[in-house]
Amino acid sequence: MSNLQVNVAGVAFKNPVITASGCYGFGRDYEDMYPLSRLGGVSLKGMTYAERLGNPPPRIAETPSGMLNSVGLQNPGVEHFLAEDLPYLEKQDTVLIANIAGSTVEDYCRLAERLSETSIDMMELNISCPNVKEGGVAFGTSCQSAESIVRQVRKYCKKPLMVKLSPNVTDIVSIAQAVEAQGADAVSLINTLLGMRIDIESRRPILRNNVGGLSGPAVFPVAVRMVWQVANNVKIPVVGMGGIEKWQDAIEMMMAGASAIQMGAALFYDPMAPIKVIEGMDQWLDSHGVKNVADIVGTVRPW
Ligand code: SIN
Repeated sequence: MSNLQVNVAGVAFKNPVITASGCYGFGRDYEDMYPLSRLGGVSLKGMTYAERLGNPPPRIAETPSGMLNSVGLQNPGVEHFLAEDLPYLEKQDTVLIANIAGSTVEDYCRLAERLSETSIDMMELNISCPNVKEGGVAFGTSCQSAESIVRQVRKYCKKPLMVKLSPNVTDIVSIAQAVEAQGADAVSLINTLLGMRIDIESRRPILRNNVGGLSGPAVFPVAVRMVWQVANNVKIPVVGMGGIEKWQDAIEMMMAGASAIQMGAALFYDPMAPIKVIEGMDQWLDSHGVKNVADIVGTVRPW
């Protein structure tokens, strides 16, 4: 067996496979299938300080090799999470990543401060949700706004801080560098790509929010390209995600420069996908004589 352990921003993961925010809830739905302790980590559903009901339905649409979502950060709020979900998650022996969001910088700061007092291992600053009118991606699409929010949240966040980046920008490298300069300990990418579908009979958008975020295998090559570009231009670790469904995809993403990977949309059609990825990676590493999974990070040899 190869050593699957990785370290991201000082946090030790038993393997590089993390379930992506918004696709795994707070973990309980999966406990009958496998112990959560099999996973490297869990990035929890995007959380805000106060409860949010999210956007009106329909908020999911199928697309070729993917899906659009416009959930709108539905979540029960931090106090409910701390009372009802964290006690369960603390017993699962996996890395817990709180994905934090808000409408204002102040919202993000007080949430980061509150979660800093808890057993959460890491925070993932969500400045890339495309489905909310205030906050979300609005903070993540210019260097100035990304820098400003990371600088503020950094003062309140006493845990390793990973910033989740949006692909809906012209130059993701400059955003990654901007957040690195303000003290981000890692970046994760990519969040969803803004998309739209239309029902041709009603001539109405399928999503009630008109537009939504595209994820799934359709976005995988875009994600690999962006991870490769960012990893070559920052010093902090990169966590790669976007359309990973098979172990081969996870290895490819790590070769592009990701120190760990997240899996999202695949969970909806194969809840066992993360376990298959962990097992498949292990076999591939063994058969190629690679002792540590970390040794493949960034090993792509560009022409
Ligand atoms: C959502 O809840 O709308 C999705 C979250 C995200 O894209 O970050």
